[in-house]
Amino acid sequence: MHAALLRYLAVVLAVGLCLVAWGGLVAEQAEEEEAPATYVGQKKCKMCHSDIFAAWEKTVHAHAIDSLDDEAKANKMCLSCHTTGYGEEGGFVDLESTPQMVNVQCEACHGAGSNYWNASVMKDRELAISKGLIIPPGPEVCVKCHNERSPEFTGFDYEEYVASPEGIHMIEKETGEEAQEEKKEKGK
Ligand code: HEC
Ligand code: HEC
Ligand code: HEC
Ligand code: HEC
Repeated sequence: MHAALLRYLAVVLAVGLCLVAWGGLVAEQAEEEEAPATYVGQKKCKMCHSDIFAAWEKTVHAHAIDSLDDEAKANKMCLSCHTTGYGEEGGFVDLESTPQMVNVQCEACHGAGSNYWNASVMKDRELAISKGLIIPPGPEVCVKCHNERSPEFTGFDYEEYVASPEGIHMIEKETGEEAQEEKKEKGK
């Protein structure tokens, strides 16, 4: 009688252990299947964030490559901060092979987008973050470029720089004003 019970328990235990091991394997595989994030370029972001894109285009980041003269454009050191994803997968390599990755684009602050840019992931904030979306980009993101290696460096104060319309797409204020003006015009 006891032997039958023990055999039963042994089977239950064995099945349980198998399930745990299998579960672990599946989880491991899921993690492995996710390819490392690569840069996809600003066009992808523009598709759905056209208003923020328009605001970003007015910032100095969107024209950072234009600050470099021909000599500087041939200097990798200069290019490394005036472009997006320099030296990383999908990021800027040189002006001939990756002209679409010049300037300080969305992904320079929000992280390489290949794993989060599609609609099903994007609409789920937590999922997007787990797949590499950086929001909000903190000072640690900015100081990768805003540091003493820059010949023009004069210091960096995160609060001040984020509040500056030169640095960040000031979408809320801009659309607010524009929307109000549009309303006024429509009312007339
Ligand atoms: C297929 C459409 C689509 C594309 C492409 C897309 N996004 Fe989004 N994104 C959304 C939607 C929808 C949301 C959630 C609603 C919102 O905040 O607008 C969102 C939210 C965000 C947020 C804010 C998250 C939050 O809740 O605060 C950031 C930052 C962002 N996207 C950056 C990007 C970047 C960078 C790219 C390009 C690599 C990109 N998105 C491409 C649709 C898209
Ligand atoms: C990939 C490099 C890079 C990253 C990351 C970056 N910046 Fe910049 N930033 C630049 C470059 C380059 C310029 C100069 C652009 C020009 O005029 O050529 C600049 C200019 C600015 C300016 C204009 C004022 C000035 O000193 O010229 C502000 C404000 C700014 N950045 C804020 C930020 C903030 C805030 C972050 C982080 C959320 C950030 N930047 C992240 C490269 C970067
Ligand atoms: C470590 C990142 C980094 C490197 C490397 C770098 N820059 Fe910059 N550059 C910046 C940042 C950030 C700014 C914005 C100024 C600031 O607030 O520090 C800037 C601003 C500038 C500006 C001023 C734009 C303006 O109109 O105000 C020029 C010109 C410039 N850089 C040229 C160069 C040249 C030439 C090189 C190579 C010799 C170079 N940069 C290397 C990050 C960098
Ligand atoms: C220089 C860094 C930088 C760049 C470049 C940048 N962002 Fe942002 N973004 C930020 C920061 C910082 C915040 C948080 C703003 C805040 O807290 O006020 C933000 C917030 C956002 C948000 C959520 C809040 C909102 O305004 O709706 C979205 C969506 C977004 N960015 C999309 C984009 C897209 C799309 C691009 C490219 C066209 C882009 N960002 C380029 C730094 C950047």
